[in-house]
Amino acid sequence: MPAAQFRKPSLQLLNEIKKITGNSGWKHPQDEPSYFEDPRGRFKGKGCLIVTPQSTQKVSEITQLCNQERVAIIPYSGGTGVVAGQLSIESENVIIMSLEKMNNIRHISADDSILVAEAGCILENVHNIANEHGMNFPLNMASKGSCRVGGNLATNAGGIQVLRHGNARDLCLGIEAVLPDGMILNELAPLQKNNTGYDVRHLMIGSEGTLGIITAAALKLKPLDPETGTAFIGISSPEDGLKVLREIKRHLGDSISAFELMSGFGVQLVSADFPSLKNPLSKLSEWNLLLEASGSFGVDNLMQKAIMACLEKDLIVDAVIAKSQSQRESLWGLRENIPDSNRRAGAFCSSDTSVIVSKVDVFIKDTISAISAIDPDIRINSYGHLGDGNIHHNVFPPNGVSKTEFLSNNPEIIATVRMAINEVTHKHGGSISAEHGIGRLKVDDAELYLADAKKLMIKRIKSVIDPNNIMNPGALVV
Ligand code: LAC
Ligand code: ZN
Repeated sequence: MPAAQFRKPSLQLLNEIKKITGNSGWKHPQDEPSYFEDPRGRFKGKGCLIVTPQSTQKVSEITQLCNQERVAIIPYSGGTGVVAGQLSIESENVIIMSLEKMNNIRHISADDSILVAEAGCILENVHNIANEHGMNFPLNMASKGSCRVGGNLATNAGGIQVLRHGNARDLCLGIEAVLPDGMILNELAPLQKNNTGYDVRHLMIGSEGTLGIITAAALKLKPLDPETGTAFIGISSPEDGLKVLREIKRHLGDSISAFELMSGFGVQLVSADFPSLKNPLSKLSEWNLLLEASGSFGVDNLMQKAIMACLEKDLIVDAVIAKSQSQRESLWGLRENIPDSNRRAGAFCSSDTSVIVSKVDVFIKDTISAISAIDPDIRINSYGHLGDGNIHHNVFPPNGVSKTEFLSNNPEIIATVRMAINEVTHKHGGSISAEHGIGRLKVDDAELYLADAKKLMIKRIKSVIDPNNIMNPGALVV
């Protein structure tokens, strides 16, 4: 892989780019700090020009110019990524390319179960438009109000419904993208079957902007479920959580659309930050599940029967079933605000790992032991997507100690904890990045844990498709 060069853009290049976008299509970095912020406040991005092209053709023209001058482009979507994939930490000699102005829905067909969205569409807008047509786009996550389709695909985002509907990759039938030399790849045809060689769509999905810029996508829609049931369940341990999953699957099969785990500590953090979001159970439970089942009429009833069966088998401590949409939203509020409350409470490490579902209980136990062995007083909030094996461990200083004080007294602690989590994950055959990607934050970890053959393929693919290393240099490629 050629090393990142970050050639400084000439004034002439910057002027030519501005001519392509027109005055409304570029911004001064100093006026727009939000493009350089990390959602968790750990990094600052840099850049010398922000461009917001309005069409695929303009993305192509700008990219072609940058490639000729060997100037780097950082593709920017909703800015919600947490591994610094959208932030040039190394150099300000980069062009930030945001697709926010490409936010049209080009086509929707309920008959074909297809929606073609431009990359700048906000995920929640895609949900709403699909719903208006009696359909559902089931990629879903807490950042849905600000993340955008291009970033969802570039990072192969996961979220809360992966166990039923798969991740972004599974929900995309075609893409349009601009390659590093400006060529437009049109693979948008939403064909269910298309075996014509390498599936370049899947090469672009999850490539984190290192092979080109996704400009539009044909997304798979699902029929809108007539009924949804939501329950908040107290359990004694993740081990019981897995038993509950097994039991509930027997009753509900594929209708389980979310099966999330929350520690009691996490529930406490959120209810302290958001007074309207209270623990719905009579007592705080050490572990909790948020279960959602969606399907034909009667699914809510089936879910309640499944929960009764779990109670009879002593698998659960207590449960509350949402009786209205606003109750459902409050229960989800407890789950969706966890990352925000973690940050406010001073989390210094936030992991994103996965193991196979049947090992997730042992994995959580081993990870908590490994972290506690480093310092028994540090606090841990483990939560995540139990139903698909993806757990986030968030680690905090001991009670009463501020993050700043703790980190200055323990300068190695972030790396030590991160490596402890990585080691346990690796030992269990898991992934060090389940749904957030590699970005710039995890390139060193990827170097350590990815298989040699995979690293070689990544390097070779990158050097052929982007020989000048202008697309998001410094991200992903080890
Ligand atoms: C979540 C994000 C952090 O699950 O992936 O809340
Ligand atoms: Zn997650």
